[in-house]
Amino acid sequence: MTLTEIIGTLKTKFNPSKVINSLKKTAGFYNESDTDSEGNDSGEDLESNQYSDSVGDSVKSSSTVKISHNGVSPLIKLENVWKTYKMGDTEFAALAGINLEIDKGEFLVILGPSGSGKSTLMNLIGCLDLPSKGTIFLDSKNIAKLAESELARIRGEMIGFIFQSFNLIPTLNTEENVMLPMEFQEVNMHDGRKRAEYLLGIVGLSDKIQNLPSQLSGGQMQRVAIARSLAVDPPIILADEPTGNLDSKTGFYILGFLNDLHKKENKTIIIVTHDVEIVKLASRVVHLKDGQIESIESCTKDNPCALRE
Ligand SMILES: Nc1ncnc2c1ncn2[C@@H]1O[C@H](COP(=O)(O)OP(=O)(O)O)[C@@H](O)[C@H]1O
Ligand SMILES: [Mg+2]
Repeated sequence: MTLTEIIGTLKTKFNPSKVINSLKKTAGFYNESDTDSEGNDSGEDLESNQYSDSVGDSVKSSSTVKISHNGVSPLIKLENVWKTYKMGDTEFAALAGINLEIDKGEFLVILGPSGSGKSTLMNLIGCLDLPSKGTIFLDSKNIAKLAESELARIRGEMIGFIFQSFNLIPTLNTEENVMLPMEFQEVNMHDGRKRAEYLLGIVGLSDKIQNLPSQLSGGQMQRVAIARSLAVDPPIILADEPTGNLDSKTGFYILGFLNDLHKKENKTIIIVTHDVEIVKLASRVVHLKDGQIESIESCTKDNPCALRE
């Protein structure tokens, strides 16, 4: 199926929840391989002078709401956010009362054991899912109770996703995969193609534009996924274990890329990772446990955060 046919099918049968589910399953917005990686050991050091000035003191408990620590309203704010699932007669809380504020330009790392709620939290911040209870503000707009079509629009404009399993559409070539989010934003084909070529140039894949995902290596697929995440120039990049399955060279490349995005373009980066090198870049590290925020560490250039689990 060609790109135009896929888009056509999605548009003519436009049913927001179906589109969202279809995207979750096929287009990279769902972290299928949910394994937690154990930090890579690339051992390479990356210059990291992007730390924000002290971003406030550690928050010790998830019941503490961190009110605008720098006087600017936060880009993202979660208030008493719960995500519960019914399991037979009982309810299971994947997230249990999350309070968190994230400022524009932060590099936030989310750490926690498998099953602690990291991906659930990312899905809520990324407008892929709605909380069972609580409020989420994105750019001061309450997204917790929006209809799916509106949620999809905000997601398309504001969020770039990079997930471990890439989720490229196998029947689309590299360029078409990168153009996919632009299609949903109704960017015209000509401009879309130019932007896709520009982004693929940035990630070093200009010579692979016509390749299908099956004709790419794992590292190259991840680079296509990164180019796609930047297609609509979103202010927020969400990455769930982006270097988990990669060789250290590609992992290092992606690390540098995220660092540049943050430093040079002031993108807000929120990343689930156990990669020690990425943790060193963080402005704050949020520790999740059993669906709650256990602690939040602030990091500085002189005192970078480190893994501790
Ligand atoms: N759709 C679902 N239905 C029931 N339980 C779920 C669902 N999604 C996630 N969970 C549970 O919620 C908890 C948190 O999951 P997740 O956010 O994926 O954790 P992490 O990403 O930290 O490994 C896990 O115990 C998981 O089994
Ligand atoms: Mg996960």
